[in-house]
Amino acid sequence: MSKFDFDKVTNHFITSGFLYQGSEIYGGLSNTWDYGPLGSEVKRNIEKMWWKKFIQESPTNVGIDAAILMNPKVWEATGHVSTFNDPLLDCKDCKMRFRADQLIEKQFPDADIAGLNDEQLMDFIRNNDVKCPNCGGTNFTDIRKFNMMFKTHIGVTEDSKSVVYLRPETAQGVFVNFKNILRTTRRKLPIGICNVGKAFRNEITPGQMTFRMREFTQMEMEFFCKPGEDLKWFDFWKKRCLDFVADLGIKKEDLRFRDHEPAELAFYSKATTDIEYRFPFGWGEVWGIADRTDYDLKRHATYSGEPLDYFDPETNEKYVPFCIEPSVGLDRLILMTLCNAYDEEAIGENDSRIVMHLVPSLAPYKVAVLPLSKKLEEKAQEVQKILSTYMTTVYDDTGSIGKRYRRQDAIGTPYCVTVDFNTLEDSSVTIRDRDTMQQIRLQITDLEKYLSVKVFY
Ligand code: GAP
Repeated sequence: MSKFDFDKVTNHFITSGFLYQGSEIYGGLSNTWDYGPLGSEVKRNIEKMWWKKFIQESPTNVGIDAAILMNPKVWEATGHVSTFNDPLLDCKDCKMRFRADQLIEKQFPDADIAGLNDEQLMDFIRNNDVKCPNCGGTNFTDIRKFNMMFKTHIGVTEDSKSVVYLRPETAQGVFVNFKNILRTTRRKLPIGICNVGKAFRNEITPGQMTFRMREFTQMEMEFFCKPGEDLKWFDFWKKRCLDFVADLGIKKEDLRFRDHEPAELAFYSKATTDIEYRFPFGWGEVWGIADRTDYDLKRHATYSGEPLDYFDPETNEKYVPFCIEPSVGLDRLILMTLCNAYDEEAIGENDSRIVMHLVPSLAPYKVAVLPLSKKLEEKAQEVQKILSTYMTTVYDDTGSIGKRYRRQDAIGTPYCVTVDFNTLEDSSVTIRDRDTMQQIRLQITDLEKYLSVKVFY
C-alpha cells in the first residue's frame, strides 16, 4: 500500500497541475474535478493505451462513439428507471442524509450485507445500534429509494414527454447498435464492441477525489459470444484486464480480484469479478468484469420490438448471444496510476525529492528541455522544436539546474535534456534519466531515436 497519506498525495496532484477542483473561483461545485495540463495528457495516454489493447490489438473487436442522450425507453428496458436507486435514510435529529449500506459498512466493516434488501438493511441498523456519524443519534427515517440518473429535457417544453436522461453507463450505446454493427462490419461472433465516454450518476456520497464522481468517463466493452462459451471468454478478458493494469506499472501487491458472492450477483449475471486496487484510503473497485448472459439484448428486443438474435452460419442456429462486459472508469485508472507513481526519496544525507515514477508512455511530458543559461535559448528552442514533432515536451529556463530537475521529477518527466555551452561547439547535449538520475551525453541528431524507444514502449 502507498506509504503516503491520501490528502498529501492528492494535494501534490492539485498543486502541480494534474487536477483542479471544478469551478474553483466560484467556490467549486461539490466533487467536480477538471484535469489540468498534466492530468489531461495522462488521461489521453491511458485512453489511447486502452483503445490499442482492446481494439487495435484485439482483432475480434471494434470501437464506436455513441451519444450521451438516448431514447428514454432504453433506460426502461435496462431497468435503470425502476431500479437504479440508492437506499437513502435521514437522521431525524441532525437531518443528515446517508446511504444505508455505506452507513453499515463504515461501522461494521466485517458485516456481510451483500444482497440484503431495504427491510433487512433497516433491521440491521436497528438491531446493531448503528449510529449517525454526524451527531451520534440512532433516530433514523425508513429507507427511501433515490434514482441516480440525471434528468433533463429535450427541446423547449419541460413536460414528462420531453424527459431524457444523461446516460449512467456507456454500455447501452453498444447494445442498441448491435444490429447496425454486425450488418455494417459483416463480422461474425465472437465480437467485442467498445465505447468510451462520459457517464453521469447523481451519487449521494461522492468522494475520495476522482474515485467517485457524478460525471466520469467510462471505457466499456461488450463482448458477444455463443452461449456456453461465455465463461471461457470471461476468464480470457479477466486476464487481459489485469495485464492492462500491470502495463500501467501498478505494483502487483496492491491489486486483487474480488469475485462477487452469489448473493451479490445481479439476477441476470452468471459471474462478476472486480479488479481492486489498494488506494491510500483502502481497497477500491477499479474494473468490473461481468458475464451479463443474454439479458441486455433480450430486454432491448422486447422493448424495441426489433429482434436482436444472431444467425450462426457455422451451425445454422439462431440464438441471442451472451455478453461479457469489462467496464472500467478512466478516472479511477488515472487516480490509481498517479497514487502508484508517487514517491518521496532521500538523495544523499540532507536532500530529498518527490518523484512520480510514471511509466514513460503515460508521462505528461516525455522530455524537458533545459538551457543551462538564458544565453542558450536559441539552441535549446531548436532542440525542443525537433523533439516536439515526435513527443510531448516542456521547456524550463528558470532556477538552478538542480531545481529544474526536481520540478520535472515531481511531475514524472522521464528525461531531461540539458543544453550547455559545449552544445554550441559539438552539438551534443546531456540526457538525465528521472529514475536513475544518471546522465549521458548524446548528439542532437541521435536524440529522437534514443528517446522514442524509451518513451513509447
Ligand atoms: N455497465 C456496467 C457498469 O457501469 P459499474 O460497476 O456501475 O458497472 C463500472 O461501473 C466502472 O465504472 C467501475 O468499476 C468504476 O471504475 C467506474 N465508476 C462507476 N461509478 C463511478 C463514479 N461515480 N465515479 C467514477 N467512476 C465510477
